[in-house]
Amino acid sequence: MRTQVGIVGAGPAGLLLSHLLHLRGVESVVVDVQTRASIEQTIKAGILEQGTVDLLRDTGVGDRMMRDGFIHHGINLAFRGGLHRIDLTELSGGRSVTVYAQHEVLIDLIAKRLDDGGDLRFGVTDTAVDGLESEQPTITFTHEGGRQSLECDFVVGADGSRTMCRYLVPQRQDFFRQYPFAWFGILADAPPSSDELIYAHSDRGFVLVSTRSPSVQRLYFQCDPETDVDDWSDDRIWSEFTARLAPAGVAPKDGPIFKKDVLQFRSFVCEPMQYGRLFLAGDAAHTVPPTGAKGLNLAVADVRVLDRALGVYYRSKDKGLLEAYTQTALKRVWRAQWFSFWMTSMLHRFSDASDFDLRRQIAELELVTSSPSAAKTLAENYTGLPLT
Ligand code: DHB
Repeated sequence: MRTQVGIVGAGPAGLLLSHLLHLRGVESVVVDVQTRASIEQTIKAGILEQGTVDLLRDTGVGDRMMRDGFIHHGINLAFRGGLHRIDLTELSGGRSVTVYAQHEVLIDLIAKRLDDGGDLRFGVTDTAVDGLESEQPTITFTHEGGRQSLECDFVVGADGSRTMCRYLVPQRQDFFRQYPFAWFGILADAPPSSDELIYAHSDRGFVLVSTRSPSVQRLYFQCDPETDVDDWSDDRIWSEFTARLAPAGVAPKDGPIFKKDVLQFRSFVCEPMQYGRLFLAGDAAHTVPPTGAKGLNLAVADVRVLDRALGVYYRSKDKGLLEAYTQTALKRVWRAQWFSFWMTSMLHRFSDASDFDLRRQIAELELVTSSPSAAKTLAENYTGLPLT
């Protein structure tokens, strides 16, 4: 088999790239170890930046998102007994975010690719990538019992945080940070507890009140990374949310919990994001802690840069933008690393936090909610810088 761009990974980065390249008339094949059902059902984050929303809509994959997603013009920061609204739209010059779950974006992208005759191979095994220094790299994999070899002009490693493609970049530098906590996430059949998201600082640790629909809510509380979800009954979970939100005057509306998971916290960047004819995109190259809701949006931004660069290459054989990929993508990656770290450190309770640290956090939250320029910094970064 032969294609122009071989893509390892059918997540947001891989599927969106395949879609964007198709619109330019560039062929691709996407392979993924997971089944289509598993990709379409795995619960991930749910906040789309303005630029992500615009891109999905403008390229014809935004119909369901526009219909079923919820546009949010503000978020609330809760601390020291009060709720403080950040007007995202006013502070960012008219931008907003949309609540629409990542797996719904994937459902839409898969449907569109298949509709457009795209070649997606799910459930592949034994994937190997070779010949990255040659003009003709190959992806070899087993699919439906047969060994396949795919010759490509370029390979894109969009295979997520469990990537194998990252390890094909020699002389890589990995930048890494661990956090001493995780998030306990739930999905519950319940009415919304708030019209807009609440990011809450509390003595018992952080809480995020998010939503999925008028009848399904997504909430998270800061927990120990070793937490076992089986130790947490619905009652115990709702009591914890209630205790953490009560000081801000918020009473979570409870209901049956149908999904419990623990999300690990890490900051990670791999440099460079390319080697020979391989380009890394999304979580294969970087991970952010979830507090800033940047993971999916960063994958979209990488792919936007890569799509442009590949477009120029196929039009004119000019490799300039491809060669600059790492440099271009990393600017936004490190900005998102800073923002996610900032939001995380401002809102979470660190186990070794002194009274000094707690008071410093409160001072920072007071700054962000009372100084228009500080609030503007939060709003601009939360809604996302324009895509280049
Ligand atoms: C959600 C996740 C986030 O990490 C975040 O910052 C906001 C919302 C969510 O899953 O809804």
